[in-house]
Amino acid sequence: MGILDGKVAFITGAARAQGRSHAIRLAEEGADIIAFDICAPAAKVGYPTATPDDLDETVRLVEALGRRIVARIGDVRSQSDLDGAVADGVAALGRLDIVVANAGISSWGRFWEMSDERWQDMIDINLTGVWRTLRAAAPTMIEQGSGGSMITISSVAGIKSLPGQGHYSAAKHGVVGLTKTAAIELGPHEIRVNSIHPWGVQSPMTEDAELVPVLEKHPEFLSSFGSIMPQLGVAQPRDISETVLFLASDASRFMTGAQLTVDMGATKV
Ligand SMILES: NC(=O)c1ccc[n+]([C@@H]2O[C@H](COP(=O)([O-])OP(=O)(O)OC[C@H]3O[C@@H](n4cnc5c(N)ncnc54)[C@H](O)[C@@H]3O)[C@@H](O)[C@H]2O)c1
Repeated sequence: MGILDGKVAFITGAARAQGRSHAIRLAEEGADIIAFDICAPAAKVGYPTATPDDLDETVRLVEALGRRIVARIGDVRSQSDLDGAVADGVAALGRLDIVVANAGISSWGRFWEMSDERWQDMIDINLTGVWRTLRAAAPTMIEQGSGGSMITISSVAGIKSLPGQGHYSAAKHGVVGLTKTAAIELGPHEIRVNSIHPWGVQSPMTEDAELVPVLEKHPEFLSSFGSIMPQLGVAQPRDISETVLFLASDASRFMTGAQLTVDMGATKV
């Protein structure tokens, strides 16, 4: 018996790293999964992109747990891609209870030096993509009438801003505003909406070739990159998945509109 038996979770950015880990952790507790990922370069970034093979591996790992999974390749910038994945997933799996809006990108540059394209890609994927994800899921969950949990993946940069990431910080702060409004609007339907704010997490995103040159050029940026427990290094995706599971489950049934930091205190220093 798992604490999510009979539930279905829709997870974006599920091909690898944190999204895959969330799919596995929720499946371990009995949830069936609708997995969504672009599996291709989404924008110009300094780290390798996810592939269809990555998404296939997520499928294999969830099925190895005895759970069902519907996987779709698509872009969170496309409402029809997201709507189609939700429709296919609900048709196959019967319902929708949990949403994890996790897909995102990272890139670098001082705000007055970055291109229009770099700014817009970030806002379109990391902010508007989260809105589109919640928008794709809300009508089905409301119609079902059995409540649910939506979880948005923001960042430390959604609470304190990071130098060299004005666009990322703006998008991740924006996710907080959207999360709080969604919590208010969905409260009457007992659909809870909360955000998670990780600090560094082991993933291809943190192996970003742009990062070291940026810090070498602007060593003053380093003062914004501390935490209370730096000796722990970066978190593993599973560390974030435990908080996703908490928010997905009834253990957090009195929580909505909250911002949960999983950040070794990085937002406090
Ligand atoms: N890695 C960190 O240190 C860290 C820290 C705080 C927050 N985050 C956030 O956590 C989330 C997951 O990041 P990760 O560390 O697993 O990185 P990742 O790059 O390994 O995973 C992100 C996934 O999102 C997918 N994706 C990107 N753009 C997409 C699009 N337009 N449509 C559909 N899918 C798309 C990618 O293909 C990839 O599989 C992101 O929102 C990120 O901003 C990461």
